[in-house]
Amino acid sequence: MKKFTVFFGVFLVFCVFFLSAQNRNDPAISTILNHFAARNYSSATVTKAELDLIIQAGIRAPSARNGQPWHFTVVQNQALAKKIIPQVTDGSILIVVSAAGDGKTNGAVILDCGLAVQSMYLAAQALGLGSRIYTGPIDTINKDFKKDLGLPDNVSAIAVIRIGRLPANVDAVSSASPRNSADKIVTYK
Ligand SMILES: Cc1cc2nc3c(=O)[nH]c(=O)nc-3n(C[C@H](O)[C@H](O)[C@H](O)COP(=O)(O)O)c2cc1C
Repeated sequence: MKKFTVFFGVFLVFCVFFLSAQNRNDPAISTILNHFAARNYSSATVTKAELDLIIQAGIRAPSARNGQPWHFTVVQNQALAKKIIPQVTDGSILIVVSAAGDGKTNGAVILDCGLAVQSMYLAAQALGLGSRIYTGPIDTINKDFKKDLGLPDNVSAIAVIRIGRLPANVDAVSSASPRNSADKIVTYK
C-alpha cells in the first residue's frame, strides 16, 4: 500500500509538471507570453500570404455586440509609411486601424479596435515576424494624413501596427521590457 501511495504521488507530480510544460509550449500561449514590441527590422518583405493571415486575425477579433467597427488601411507605400512613422525602414508595412467617430470619446469602439490591433500584433509574431503598436502618430494622422490614407472626415485613426521581418538572432526574452509581477496587480476575493 505504501509503495502504491509513493508511486501514485510521483505519478501525480509528473502529470502536473508535464501538463504545465505542455501548456507553456502551446503555440498560442507561447506567442502570448513571449511577444515583444520590435524596434529593429530587416529590409526583407512580408509576403501576401502572411499579410492575409494577419488581416484575418484582425477581422476575427471580438467586439461589443459583434459591431466590428474597425477599418484596416494597409500602407505598403514606403514614402507614406515614413510620413506616418519616420523611423520605418524599407520592408515594413503599417496597418492603420480606424473607426467612425473622433477616436477619443467612444470607449467601446476604441476597445474593439484595440482588440483587433492586439490580434494582428500577435498574429504577426506567431508567424515569426516582428510587430509594434503605435498611438504616438495618431493625432498627426488625423490632422494631416487622412486624405493620403483615404479616410473620410467622419472616421478617425485609432492605432497603427508596424509589421516587418526581424533581423537574425533577435532574442525575444531579452528584447521585451519587464512586467509587473502577479502579486502586485492581481487580487483574489
Ligand atoms: C496602445 C499602445 C501604444 C503604443 N504607442 C507606441 C508609440 O507611439 N511609439 C512606440 O515606440 N511604441 C509604442 N508602443 C509600444 C510600447 O512601448 C511597448 O508595447 C511596451 O513598451 C512593451 O514593450 P515590450 O512588449 O517589447 O516589452 C505602444 C504600445 C501600445 C500597446
